[in-house]
Amino acid sequence: MSKSKSTNSTRRARILVLHGPNLNLLGRREPEIYGTASLADIHTAMEARARVVGVQIESFQSNSEGELIDRVQVASEEGIEFIILNPAGYTHTSVALRDAMLAVAIPFIEVHLSNIHARESFRKHSYFSDIAVGVICGFGPSGYEIALETALARIAHSA
Ligand code: DQA
Repeated sequence: MSKSKSTNSTRRARILVLHGPNLNLLGRREPEIYGTASLADIHTAMEARARVVGVQIESFQSNSEGELIDRVQVASEEGIEFIILNPAGYTHTSVALRDAMLAVAIPFIEVHLSNIHARESFRKHSYFSDIAVGVICGFGPSGYEIALETALARIAHSA
């Protein structure tokens, strides 16, 4: 935790996991592409890992661009230190969500379950990759775990 953010060493770091549209259907949605794990399964695994290291983690999914933007703005007010973001379909369309990420300037990792570079050509472009700390795609739910480990390491280093 950086000194500028808090002098209270018992404060738990906070990570927000943001999921875009249709990810509420994970497990049922095109399982040959996205696998059979549900969003709840993914969150449970991340929460278990975060609990071990005493970090608070919250997941938020919305099918609405405006709700995702609102959640990002609130994250800034809440002092969220890191975001793990799967913008889903908004990856390829949303200047507004990109602007929100730029506005709050919270470091984030972009995650995709599928390998977006091995699919339709319109999925190759992301409005987030160039402003993300990094991008993880094609590893299914493990991608979230890799992102979480990276987020934890970065938070530990900024403590
Ligand atoms: C996705 C890839 C996107 O292209 C797609 O629109 C999604 C999910 C992924 O996790 O692989 O909804 O972000």
